[in-house]
Amino acid sequence: MSKVTVPIIVGKKKRNEKIVTLTAYDAATARIIDETGVDIILVGDSLGNVIQGLDKTLEVTMDEMIYHTKIVSRGINRAHLCGDMPFMSYQSSIEVAIRNAGRFIKDGRAESVKIETNENYLETIYAIQKAGIPVMGHIGLCPQSVLMTGGYKIQGREKNEAKRLVGLANSIEDAGAFSIVLESIPLKLAKKITKSIGIPTIGIGAGPYCDGQVLVINDLVGLTPDPAPKFVKKYANVRQIMTKSVIEFRDEVQCGTFPSLSHSYD
Ligand code: KIV
Repeated sequence: MSKVTVPIIVGKKKRNEKIVTLTAYDAATARIIDETGVDIILVGDSLGNVIQGLDKTLEVTMDEMIYHTKIVSRGINRAHLCGDMPFMSYQSSIEVAIRNAGRFIKDGRAESVKIETNENYLETIYAIQKAGIPVMGHIGLCPQSVLMTGGYKIQGREKNEAKRLVGLANSIEDAGAFSIVLESIPLKLAKKITKSIGIPTIGIGAGPYCDGQVLVINDLVGLTPDPAPKFVKKYANVRQIMTKSVIEFRDEVQCGTFPSLSHSYD
C-alpha cells in the first residue's frame, strides 16, 4: 500500500471516497491503526483528556505533543500523520506558529498540522502552508476555546453562527488549508459546508455528509469511561476486557495459581 499524501487526501473528495481518520498517541496503537489502511492518523491534543487525565486540553504542551507525535510516527508506514497544535503554540504570533509547526515536521516527523481555527488565524494558516507545511483547519466546537465559550456545546445551531461557519470554512480554504475538521455541528450545516468548499471536510459529531470521519481511538474501542458523547460509536468494550483481565490476574496472584509451572523457567 502506498503512502497517503496530501494530494491523495484532497483527491478523495473529488473521487467521492470517504477519508478515514483516527487519533493515536503511541506507536503500538498507531501500528494497529496503520495496518488497517486508515488514511490519516491524528495525534490530537485530546491526549490531554484520554492519556494525561486532564479535564481540558489547555495544559497540553508543545513538548508533549512532539513526544507523542514522534512515537506515533514509529508505528506508521502508510497513513498520513497530522499533529495537533496545542493551546498557545500558535496564538501569540505568526512567527511562533511557523516555528512550532516546523517542530512538528522536523522533531515529530508529522506531515501536516491541525489548528483550531477562527477568523484570527487565517493569516497564520496562510503563512504556515506558505512555509511548506500542510494545514488542516478545525471549526465548530473548538475545545481550546472552552474558557471563552463556557463549555463544550454544539455550534452553529443559530442562523448567524451557521452563516459565519460557512464563511469561515471558505476562508480557511482560501488561506490554503488542505482539509477542515468539523466538530459538533448540525448535520445539515456540515453538508452545506462540505458542498461549498473544494477541500475535504472531516467530521466528528457532524453527521454523515462530511467527506471523512474522525474519532478518538479510546472512544471507538470503549476505553473511555461512560458517558460518551452522542456521536461516539463504541465498536468494542476494551475497558471491560481490561478490567476482567486485571481482576483475574489479581485473583490468581493472591491465591498462588499464577505463575504456574508453565509460566516459569526450569
Ligand atoms: O484533539 C483531537 O483529538 C481532535 C479530534 C477530535 C479532531 O481535535
